[in-house]
Amino acid sequence: MSDHIVLTGRRSSLVLERVANGAPLWRHWGARVTPGDLPPRDEQPLSFSPDVVVPLSTAPGFGLGGFGQPLLTAHRDGRDFSCGWDSCEVEANETQLVIRLSDSVARIALEQRFALDPVSDVLTISATLTNRGDGPLALGSLVPAILPLPPSSKTIRSFTGRHNAEFQEVREAMPAHGWQREERRGLTGHGGPAGLFVLGDGADWHHGPVHAVQLAWSGNSRLSIERDGPGWTLAAGEWFAPGEIRLAAGEAFTTPELLATFSPDGLNGASANFHQAIRSRAPWAGSELRPRPVHLNSWEGLYFGQNEAQLMALADRAAAIGVERFVLDDGWLRGRPDDRSGLGDWQVDHAKYPDGLEPLADHVRKLGMEFGLWVEPEMVNPDSDLYRAHPDWSLHIAGRAMVTARNQLVLDMSRADVRDHLFDAIDALLGELAITYLKWDHNRHLATAGDADGRASYHAQVAGSYALIDRIRAAHPGVEIESCAGGGGRIDAGIATRVERFWASDNLDAVSRAIIQRGFLAFMPPEMLGAHVGASPSHATGRVQPIEVRAGVALCGHFGVELDPARLNDADRDLLAGWIATYKTHRDRLHSGQTWLGEEPGLLWQAVGDPAHLILFVTIIDPPTDRLAPVRLPMLAGDGDIGVRLLGAVDATTATYSASWLANTGLPLPHMAAHSIAMFELKAA
Ligand code: GLA
Repeated sequence: MSDHIVLTGRRSSLVLERVANGAPLWRHWGARVTPGDLPPRDEQPLSFSPDVVVPLSTAPGFGLGGFGQPLLTAHRDGRDFSCGWDSCEVEANETQLVIRLSDSVARIALEQRFALDPVSDVLTISATLTNRGDGPLALGSLVPAILPLPPSSKTIRSFTGRHNAEFQEVREAMPAHGWQREERRGLTGHGGPAGLFVLGDGADWHHGPVHAVQLAWSGNSRLSIERDGPGWTLAAGEWFAPGEIRLAAGEAFTTPELLATFSPDGLNGASANFHQAIRSRAPWAGSELRPRPVHLNSWEGLYFGQNEAQLMALADRAAAIGVERFVLDDGWLRGRPDDRSGLGDWQVDHAKYPDGLEPLADHVRKLGMEFGLWVEPEMVNPDSDLYRAHPDWSLHIAGRAMVTARNQLVLDMSRADVRDHLFDAIDALLGELAITYLKWDHNRHLATAGDADGRASYHAQVAGSYALIDRIRAAHPGVEIESCAGGGGRIDAGIATRVERFWASDNLDAVSRAIIQRGFLAFMPPEMLGAHVGASPSHATGRVQPIEVRAGVALCGHFGVELDPARLNDADRDLLAGWIATYKTHRDRLHSGQTWLGEEPGLLWQAVGDPAHLILFVTIIDPPTDRLAPVRLPMLAGDGDIGVRLLGAVDATTATYSASWLANTGLPLPHMAAHSIAMFELKAA
């Protein structure tokens, strides 16, 4: 039996060393290598250290002479606090690895699963811990694996955010001690998924070694990087509240999946790997998605002030400019004139819709559009019939005041009766109205998140939401779902297996949104990026922006409109219709192939497609201080010629350049003002 285990991807490898009875040791995670005979490890103990070296394994224990980040912390009423494996079985082939470990003293067993997808180069890791003792085991922390980061690591790229300012990029030097980001709001968060990118020596957008992870989970999380010898260790998993996870005798707990990738091709290489993995996990089969229809969402056009006649007229105007899916947002519920009441009572407001929603849905369908509907299933207003009938159905902590947010409480999704009730309500809506689309909202964080037993219920809440969505999808396989949470508060690879689209932000200001969308694209592919043309001045920022800029930024994702076209002047309405037509012409290319991001002084760019046929967006954020630098496109190489067309709602001009010129010297730009965007098509001539 060879002493090493090798998983080989397209451009990456993972090499582990088998050891007697313990978890396999990390020898390499990075560029593709052929390990040959493994070089010896340095087993010389450092001074003032245990006499036996404890090298980094996939599942480091605690309390037995290894002092780095442990895979888990657990105890039985204070006892069995240490962990060390005394038996190990490994099953492996070229891309899959299962490690089965047990600790006969702490009486626990662990199964770790690694799968390296040779197409995407994404490693999916999960672990199951089983309590083999005869009493309960309290779990403090458990991650799928501890991963090594090499000594050449230089920079952490992560994201922070809030409502209206999602995915704000942060770059920090590798820490001297440790770095961590914890999410305790019970939701993925507006800073995006629990994920980060580690740039190695010389790495940039296009070149150099990058390690990256993202956790497939829509709840609390913890990311941490800790100095470990000359390099670092990386842990990513759920964050547990005190006492939250207790395993009864024989019970098991499975971590969310961690997606981890290495690319030698810079940040774009790592994101491209994530995009491929997310595409293959998405609810559509493989990469087979049908063209993403142009949306009109009613929210910023009408807010709560709506009725059947207004909505029908809005639908007429939407169809006239080329919209393909009409989504009725919040405001249709009985007893909900504003956000203070009515949530939880999934009945239509007959004052606004005398014959229910059917006439509107029919009208929309007759205009050739799909009909979609906004719901917020996990929520309830205290001022609602549901709350009055079932005050005990909300998450709460006995003796403590309920914490409302946007005047609402959160239903306890761990309860089967709550899930059944919500299933029946949504199932009825979908059945009655032949709805093909749900915008699934979640407009607050979790606080006083206790269950009926007074215990923290964050994990169970996410598991309950997933179970409800899965049940709805199974009963209505033709319905697509969009994940929304006060804009982009629930965007992650866990829910990405259950939804086709994410609402990235309630901020429709084109410049703010260009930044938010770039962060989104770090983890998720552009076809899942809900991007709408909003009104000007922007409702979120008050900034005035021309329709071309708002439309150009929305074209970088799954295009939609979130304004009332009646409020546009004729010229802008024609321009918007032109941009919708442009989107339809190019959406296949925009939603397949690779996405590259880049920047030059004073500008940001995004290219999508493949080197033989690209769509390129160039965005100017701040007023240029000088002439604009040409845009270098490193993905273009070779001696061929490339035809470049400037695309617009109405006009297109053409020029031809050599690929090597564009790659090395760059595409010259027309004059562009601050807060403008230009869209080009580049095709091999
Ligand atoms: C959240 C969403 C919006 C809209 C409103 C409705 O803020 O992000 O898009 O659906 O809720 O109340």
